[in-house]
Amino acid sequence: MGSLGAESPNGAPAVDVDALAVLPNAAEKVPSLVSEISSRGTGIALDNAKDRLELLETARSLVRALETPREALLRYCWREPASFAAIMFTLNLGVFALLPATGSPKKAQELAEATKADPKLLSRMLKHLAATGVLAETGPDEYRGTNFSTAMGVERFSDTFPVFANGLNPAIAKIPDFFKEAQYQSPSKLTTTPFNVAHATDKNFFEFLKEQPHVVKQFANHMSTYHLGRPSWMDSGFYPVEEGLVADQDIKGDDVLLIDIGGSTGHDLSEFSRKWPSVPGRLILQDLPEVVAEAKKMDLPSSIEPMPYNFFTEQPVKGARAYYMHSVLHDWPDDDCRKILSNITPAMKPGYSKILINENVIPETNAHWETTSLDFVMMTVNSTERTARDWKVLVESVGLKIVKIWTVRRGVESLIECELA
Ligand SMILES: C[S@@+](CC[C@H](N)C(=O)[O-])C[C@H]1O[C@@H](n2cnc3c(N)ncnc32)[C@H](O)[C@@H]1O
Repeated sequence: MGSLGAESPNGAPAVDVDALAVLPNAAEKVPSLVSEISSRGTGIALDNAKDRLELLETARSLVRALETPREALLRYCWREPASFAAIMFTLNLGVFALLPATGSPKKAQELAEATKADPKLLSRMLKHLAATGVLAETGPDEYRGTNFSTAMGVERFSDTFPVFANGLNPAIAKIPDFFKEAQYQSPSKLTTTPFNVAHATDKNFFEFLKEQPHVVKQFANHMSTYHLGRPSWMDSGFYPVEEGLVADQDIKGDDVLLIDIGGSTGHDLSEFSRKWPSVPGRLILQDLPEVVAEAKKMDLPSSIEPMPYNFFTEQPVKGARAYYMHSVLHDWPDDDCRKILSNITPAMKPGYSKILINENVIPETNAHWETTSLDFVMMTVNSTERTARDWKVLVESVGLKIVKIWTVRRGVESLIECELA
């Protein structure tokens, strides 16, 4: 028997770990979760995102309750790393694009001939992808795509994989050893980062990207797809765009309404111009020169003006109605955020200009795993996702005040509306 506890200094009762390892994690929760799923699932409208997500989270809770410690161990250490590798292999080979969910099934042999891969090797990859639901198995060595694999056949969606495989996952993998070596100190106190160690570089993430133009595009694609299908701050029921930005302001056509600072290739401003076509004022997209160059290759609406700009320098556009940043400040430790914000405040017109920060606000309890996972990405560059208290302290330290934090749903970035104090 593998036991734990009899010899433990805190006097906890002995536990038979061998027996425990093959028991469900939370057997007592299984009946209530099953009945919750059946009542939630009956007649659910799957296009209602809130209902669908609640059902999905309950289903995940059921899986966790049913799973034994042994099974959880193998999921973390076998299944997911193997899945990630098999997906990358299949992406590199271009197989997903050959296997749409709606097309006829294909044999591994046929796919191997089309891609010049070794049939036996490809067959092993496809078997794992079928075993984990990435592909549908229709017969021996025969597969059809799924919605997920079909999306992976499109570069704009699949680009998240190389961004993580080559850039961020090696840094996340360094986190335990990095902080052990740093004697478990908070990242903000350290001068080197897990990202620096993983890539043997002293450059920050964005300087590192700059050296690899194809990764700049992959990263912009990742940013443009990860928040698809979620409520956006400009949607009705989130932030009142007309009341908050336009009403009573007499904004003219050549006044600047919104500047998206660090706006990548312009997905947020494109969405704004599509959803609010008749709101007056100019829309300016600012990012690093190499990113703005990518944006210019895209089909940006004519209402958007791309402008290369480094946010560690003085903001050149004065008196805009709103200076907007989405997923920008979370990339930087507090000292850098203070520099970025302090480059905007002198450009603001008192009583008129706002800063709109579209970022996660980590709740006191019940944080969503998307937020806590993203916090690990930020940990690789010594930065952090922030709580409401963190945001208040940060913005007040540069002469701003929070007017209101607009939050619509757990796990979705809030809009933090700020003005000069
Ligand atoms: C995490 S991405 C967010 C992109 C976009 N706002 C979004 O939410 O999809 C951070 C952005 O900041 C830009 N950035 C990084 N350093 C910058 C700098 N010094 N000046 C301007 N933009 C910068 C990056 O190029 C990138 O587009």
